[in-house]
Amino acid sequence: MLVIRAKNYEELSRKAAKYIANQVELKPNSVLGLATGSTPVGTYKELIRYCQEEGLSFRKIRTVNLDEYYGLRPDHEQSYRHFMDHNLFDHIDILKENTHVPDGLTQDPCAFGEAYDEMISVLGGIDLQLLGIGSNGHIAFNEPNQHFVAPTHLVKLSENTLEDNARFFDSIDEVPPQAITMGMRSIMRARRILILASGVNKAEAVKGMLEGEIDPMLPASILQLHPDVVLIADNEALSLCALE
Ligand code: F6R
Repeated sequence: MLVIRAKNYEELSRKAAKYIANQVELKPNSVLGLATGSTPVGTYKELIRYCQEEGLSFRKIRTVNLDEYYGLRPDHEQSYRHFMDHNLFDHIDILKENTHVPDGLTQDPCAFGEAYDEMISVLGGIDLQLLGIGSNGHIAFNEPNQHFVAPTHLVKLSENTLEDNARFFDSIDEVPPQAITMGMRSIMRARRILILASGVNKAEAVKGMLEGEIDPMLPASILQLHPDVVLIADNEALSLCALE
């Protein structure tokens, strides 16, 4: 894994956006795997700037998102569909029909998961997957577990994740307890992976991902097996790592 250090969140966001913009420029019909949460917001802002001020076009880009809260309607203001529209898609020249976010209302999560993974294959697979990391080491909503789960699936969110994400809701009781998440197969099949980490609350997870054993109790550690992963992290997120 290549580690790129940023001095702060702003620098991290600029570097990440540049990395994604290069992908879009070099392969204008790329399939981008996208993440939500607070970490990529600055990256998306910078990508909007590239599009609006520097002529970067997303017209042929296809996107697949990692996850969606189970039970939230797409127009709920905390749904990840709403997040993506609001933080990126509404401000760039992407065609909405080329953007895909898991269906949080599906009645049959198993069949939906299979169909979502199949759709990703039909698109040609993910060229560049953007990831954040949970403070417990989750990627997408693959929570610490006895084993890695391969397909897109319904997952029960951990207490830790409910607590972390309560900041987006009025209270922790309003955080949906389950989500549909891309599994490890589609993530690990991505040709390139860019993972972002910012802030001291990610430091332990980042250390475990880089220096620990590959262990489903720290899901991001599986990325050690992927041949093309770049981590862009700020000083705080790298504060426990023994990097030169
Ligand atoms: C979001 C996602 C999650 C987040 C992670 C970090 O689509 O897949 O894995 O990347 O929970 O969230 P933030 O960036 O809010 O710290």
